[in-house]
Amino acid sequence: MFKKKHVVSMRDLTRDDVEFILDYAERMMPYAKAGVRVLENRILALLFFEPSTRTQLSFDSAMKRLGGSTLSLTSEESSVLKGETLADTIKVVEGYADAIVLRHPKEGAARMASEISRIPIINGGDGAGHHPTQTLLDLYTIKKESHLDNLDIALLGDLKYGRTAHSLAYALNMFNANIALVAPEGLQMPKHIVDTLNSVRLVEDVDEVIRDVDVLYVTRIQKERFPDPTEYLRVAKSYRLTLRVLERVRENLIIMHPLPRVDEIAPEVDQTKHARYFKQAFYGIPVRMALLAILMNGSI
Ligand code: CP
Repeated sequence: MFKKKHVVSMRDLTRDDVEFILDYAERMMPYAKAGVRVLENRILALLFFEPSTRTQLSFDSAMKRLGGSTLSLTSEESSVLKGETLADTIKVVEGYADAIVLRHPKEGAARMASEISRIPIINGGDGAGHHPTQTLLDLYTIKKESHLDNLDIALLGDLKYGRTAHSLAYALNMFNANIALVAPEGLQMPKHIVDTLNSVRLVEDVDEVIRDVDVLYVTRIQKERFPDPTEYLRVAKSYRLTLRVLERVRENLIIMHPLPRVDEIAPEVDQTKHARYFKQAFYGIPVRMALLAILMNGSI
């Protein structure tokens, strides 16, 4: 049973909560294309104050597959431009919808919203903070395409600013994964997160670990979060996954990426048996359908 009202951070969830959502997503899978009308007359508000393709569209699609409808707002079209605060926006939108997905550039925005909202707040990404629904679909992908127990995984890329990597590291720790953190110098995962992980090692070159993992989780450099553009240029091309890097990897290695990709994975890797990133993006539908049904009491 899942009893939380909001989904803000993986740190708020227990392993039982996560397993409940993943099992529910599996039951939702047959309806990911066909739909199931368990949230008719319910409305989901999509408040996206930062760009998004996958999170916004997959929540929109998931809600519609459940028979509900959506309201969308971006910062360019909202009264935020006139100076309205996020708190006032939340207090207004809670009267128009039954749940809110919030993406915001400021770390902690979803937490603040959850503290004042009468309706469920789902964090769709807050600055360099958390992205819990990405993590739930990442875990679902790992469970379907590889295995969650005794997993050897490497997280590669911008682990300093990458919120998907932060949320995933917390969650993998619940499943006792062996985690290698592979980041260019200056982009390592924050120490306060590393210190919570039970089995972790820090490396700078993916060649050191790629032959020893079941999952390689690649992330892009988060250009928009760098205070100094010259610092971005220094690291922009510091890693790239090519066919050469994949020589002699484990037969069942899967490669994941939350997307968008810039050029950290060469396009020819898409054709290999290891690539799972587009399937991973699709799994956002059953997972987000499950989460919406759970939070809005639309059981299947
Ligand atoms: N993975 C992810 O959050 O993608 P978007 O930024 O396109 O939503």
